[in-house]
Amino acid sequence: MSRYSRITGTGSYLPPKRVTNAELAAQLAAAGVETSDEWIVERTGICARHFAERDVGSSDLGVEAARHALEMAGRQASEIDLIIVATSTPDMVFPSTATILQNKLGVAGCPAFDVQAVCSGFVYALTVADAMIRTGAASKALVVGAEVFSRLLDFSDRTTCVLFGDGAGAVVLEASDTPGILASDLHADGKHVEILCVPGGVYGGKVHGNPLLRMDGQAVFKLAVGVLEAAARATLAKAGRTEADIDWLIPHQANIRIMQGTARKLKLPMDKVVVTVDQHGNTSAASIPLAMDAAVREGKIRKGDTLMLEGVGGGFTWGAVLLDF
Ligand code: ACO
Repeated sequence: MSRYSRITGTGSYLPPKRVTNAELAAQLAAAGVETSDEWIVERTGICARHFAERDVGSSDLGVEAARHALEMAGRQASEIDLIIVATSTPDMVFPSTATILQNKLGVAGCPAFDVQAVCSGFVYALTVADAMIRTGAASKALVVGAEVFSRLLDFSDRTTCVLFGDGAGAVVLEASDTPGILASDLHADGKHVEILCVPGGVYGGKVHGNPLLRMDGQAVFKLAVGVLEAAARATLAKAGRTEADIDWLIPHQANIRIMQGTARKLKLPMDKVVVTVDQHGNTSAASIPLAMDAAVREGKIRKGDTLMLEGVGGGFTWGAVLLDF
């Protein structure tokens, strides 16, 4: 009998502090940086984002999302035998945020590690967990995307600081006789490092280089739409399915215009696209599981629906996962 993996629970968590465009614009204006609700909504689709308090890390957001996912799956943390956290904003340089989250869940022993693929982190992590389940290396995995991107923002740069937010999403992925995850397609191309990066690093007790996010927005935009279409098509081909089989497209929530462009290329109407970027902003590796959980809890996504998850981010990295929910 074949062995597959299937999502049995989803969860998410947003830090309580919600900042609307108007509030952010007022804060930035006080520092001499000009922006407006109209500009942000028109160019990005973002209306608000959540920011974590200073003493709250990715593991704090991730553990809340994980608890909600475990509750939906009807599982105890002690039953989990693999924890993967996708994040670009780890609590510490090391150990991994996954081990910190494991301890906060009050469990020990199972493997726990981070995946760093920026905004593609969740599709990377889900693919790794699926592979480990299919080979028998794990049977009940917790896959988390958690970010505090507000830590990386340069609030004097209006071209980037209006785009991002903090949050976490999680799924419980379990071994199953039926799929579940049907196919995935992951890629990276390191020659694009410069168009989206946080170039600083730690050396000899000091930060060397700029520890804040830098982006060439137009270059990112052009690359993103093309690679997302290609990854979605490759994933469908591997699974022997077509665009018509997709009930819900859950793209990385970077910008409504990237999502509209991708949906158009896949000939999917926007009412088949899960959109939360308006309320969450871009939460990097957390955005896909956050969006998925919102749509599941709103009753949009139902058992048996076919979902296309797609991410693209710094590196450049990109990929897609097709699954039956
Ligand atoms: N408020 C007001 N004006 C602004 C702002 C702002 N927040 N930001 C930029 N502008 C101005 C610029 O200064 C420029 O003014 P100028 O014409 O006087 O020079 C003007 O708006 C147009 O700037 P562009 O950069 O050409 O604006 P564009 O339409 O390309 O939108 C954006 C910028 C939203 C970043 C767009 O390029 C984009 O969506 N890129 C995709 C990048 C993205 O979504 N990244 C997310 C992270 S990557 C990821 O997750 C994959």
